[in-house]
Amino acid sequence: MNIKDHIRGVPDFPKPGILFYDISTLLAHPDAWQVAMGRLAREVRKFQPDVLAGIESRGFLVAAPLALKLGCGFVMLRKKGKLPGKTIRHDYALEYGTDTIEIQENAVEPGSRVVVLDDLLATGGTLAASIELLRKIGAHVTGAASIIELNFLPGRQRLKELDVPFTSLAAYD
Ligand code: PRP
Ligand code: MG
Repeated sequence: MNIKDHIRGVPDFPKPGILFYDISTLLAHPDAWQVAMGRLAREVRKFQPDVLAGIESRGFLVAAPLALKLGCGFVMLRKKGKLPGKTIRHDYALEYGTDTIEIQENAVEPGSRVVVLDDLLATGGTLAASIELLRKIGAHVTGAASIIELNFLPGRQRLKELDVPFTSLAAYD
């Protein structure tokens, strides 16, 4: 099965000139989603995680079912102001301005092996910030993975600079 047959490219979203790769059609197809999660589980298992971290919001859709499959814990990396209790945050640069992600202070035991999941790797800004946040709380980030990867953007290079191995199911040129 080719995962790409179940991913829809939507032209001019969210802005003119951008081709948006939409996983809604993959999620809506139970057999294809099952295959995708099976393939990703095989790859992610190689990073030997104790915990999977999902990035709000589409990363949750990937990380939560994989955590069940692999028998790992699941933790949320959220946009700011959403998590109760004491949180640790990390600010990161966007093309224009900055953004912030947060995790609960005690979400991960120091030294735990954590793999970070998202639906898509583009510039790598989101995954890189997540890795830096997880490192702040003492996690050992052993890998990162997504369903989709955009080869024409420097995401994979950014993760390499952070020394985090990365894998994806479908790469687009
Ligand atoms: C999208 C996508 C990734 C990120 C990838 O999330 O789901 O998280 O952008 O881009 P990057 O590699 O350039 O950082 P978005 O911020 O649109 O939010 P959502 O997941 O809540 O839809
Ligand atoms: Mg996202």
